[in-house]
Amino acid sequence: MSKQTDDLFKNIVSHAKEYGFVFQSSEIYDGLSAVYDYGQLGSELKNNLKTYWWKSMVQLNENIVGIDSAIFMHPTIWKASGHVDGFNDPMIDNKDSKKRYRADQLIEDKIDRYEKDGKSDKAAQLQKDLDDALNADDLVRLKTIIEEHNIVCPISGTKNWTDVRQFNLMFATQMGAMADGAEQVYLRPETAQGIFVNFLNVQKTGRMKVPFGIAQIGKAFRNEVIARQFIMRMREFEQMELQFFVRPGTELEWYEKWKETRLKWHLALGSDPAKYRYHDHVKLAHYANAAVDIEYDFPFGFKEVEGIHSRTDFDLKQHQEFSKKKMQYFDPEINQNYIPYVVETSVGLDRLFLTVFANSLVHEDLSTEEKQDSRVVLKFHPAIAPVKAAIFPLTKKDGLPEKAREIMNRLKLDFNMQYDEKDAIGKRYRRQDAIGTPYCITVDHQTLEDNTVTIRHRDTMEQERVAIDQLRNIIGDLVSWNHLLDQLL
Ligand code: GAP
Repeated sequence: MSKQTDDLFKNIVSHAKEYGFVFQSSEIYDGLSAVYDYGQLGSELKNNLKTYWWKSMVQLNENIVGIDSAIFMHPTIWKASGHVDGFNDPMIDNKDSKKRYRADQLIEDKIDRYEKDGKSDKAAQLQKDLDDALNADDLVRLKTIIEEHNIVCPISGTKNWTDVRQFNLMFATQMGAMADGAEQVYLRPETAQGIFVNFLNVQKTGRMKVPFGIAQIGKAFRNEVIARQFIMRMREFEQMELQFFVRPGTELEWYEKWKETRLKWHLALGSDPAKYRYHDHVKLAHYANAAVDIEYDFPFGFKEVEGIHSRTDFDLKQHQEFSKKKMQYFDPEINQNYIPYVVETSVGLDRLFLTVFANSLVHEDLSTEEKQDSRVVLKFHPAIAPVKAAIFPLTKKDGLPEKAREIMNRLKLDFNMQYDEKDAIGKRYRRQDAIGTPYCITVDHQTLEDNTVTIRHRDTMEQERVAIDQLRNIIGDLVSWNHLLDQLL
C-alpha cells in the first residue's frame, strides 16, 4: 500500500470506530484477533444491507424463498461437502519469528512487489508458478518457490522456513455434556450447506418448481491463518447466500444471468462502476464448473466481495450418497427425475459493509475566498443510511424543543430518527454528515407560526421549507427501498 492509500484505509477504520460503526471485539481485554463487533450505527447499516439483499432476492422473485438454518449441523454434512478433507489453506511458519503465514499469500505479496518494481515478466511467471502449484496441491513446490524468490519473513527478515502444511479452517467443538459420549461438531464455514440439506423440505412444502432458489443470511466461521485488513478477513463473519436450483445443462446460462444480476445489485447502491470488476477463477473449487468473483477496488487493491459459482450437482449428490436419502426432483415439464444443478451467489456481508463504507466516506473541501472549511460525509444511499433524519430545535427555548419532540414522536413510527439540540446548527449538521444521515429537519420560530420546517439535504446541503404534515411523505419517498429495487427490474 502506498502512503496515500494506507492513510485512506486508516481513515476508514478510525471513522468506523469513532462514530460507533465497528469496534474491535473484546477491546478492553486487548481484543480478539480478526473478530469485530458492530456498534449502534454499524448494526443499523448492516441490517439495512441485509434488508436490501433479502428484498432483492425473496421479495422481487416469486421463485426464491428464504430460510434460516442452524449454525450447528450433523458432522457428516461436512464430510459430504468435502470440508473435512479439503477446506485447507497451505501454511508455513518462520522458525525465528514463530509467525505463521499462508504460503500462497507470501507469494502473492512478492508478485505485487515485482509489479510495483516494474518487473512485470517476473510477476507473470511467478503467478503462473503459483497457480500451477496450487492446482496440483503441490506443497513442496510452494516451499521451493518461496526459497527461489528469496521471500523473507516480514518480522524476522530471515528465510528460516518450515515445510508447507495444510491447515483445516473449520472450528470444531463438542456437543453433549459427557466427555466420552460427546460428538465433535463444527461451526459452519459457509451457510450454503444448510440450504442443500433443506432442499427437499423447502421444495416440497413450498411446492417449488425448478428453476427456484433458496436464500439465507447467517454467520459463518473460519479459522483463517492470516486475518488482516480489518473486516475483510474475519474468523466470524456473515454471508448472504443464494442457491439457485436449475435443470442440468442449463446451469451456465443461469450462471451468466446471475453474474450480471449481482453486479447490477452492487452498482445500484451508487458505487463507481470503475471500482468493480469480475475476476474469473483460475483454480476451480472441487464442486464448481465455472466460478467468478466480483471484486471491489479497496484502498489495498481489488479484492473479492462476492463469489458466483456454478456448483453442478456436487453437493446434492454428495448428500444423497452420505445420507442415503434421495435428493431428486421430479420435473413435470419433461417427465424426468434428476438431481438439480446449482448456481450459487455468495456475498460476504462484512466485506459488503466495507465496500459501502469505503465508497461513501468523502472528505469535502468547502473553502471559500473568505474562509477555510471542510466536512467529512458518509454519502450512503438514503435507503441504507442508519439514521434517516435528524431533528433540531434552532434553540433550546421558546417551546422549540417541545415542538421538535412532537414532530419526532410522529416520524419515529416510520423512520430511525435522532434528536439533537446541542451546539450551533452548523455543528449539528456536521455530526449528522459524519454518520450519513440524509436529511436534517430544523424547527425554528416560524414553525410555531405556520407549522413549517426546513429540510436540509446531506449531499447538496440545500435547504427547503416544507409543511410538517408533508414530512412523512417527503422523507418516506426519499428513503424508499423502491429507488434501489427499481434499478434491478
Ligand atoms: N458458499 C460459498 C462460499 O462460502 P467463499 O468464496 O469462500 O464461498 C463467499 O465465500 C464470500 O464470503 C466471499 O466472497 C467473502 O465476501 C465472504 N468471506 C469469505 N471468507 C471470509 C472471511 N474470512 N471474512 C469475511 N468475509 C469472508
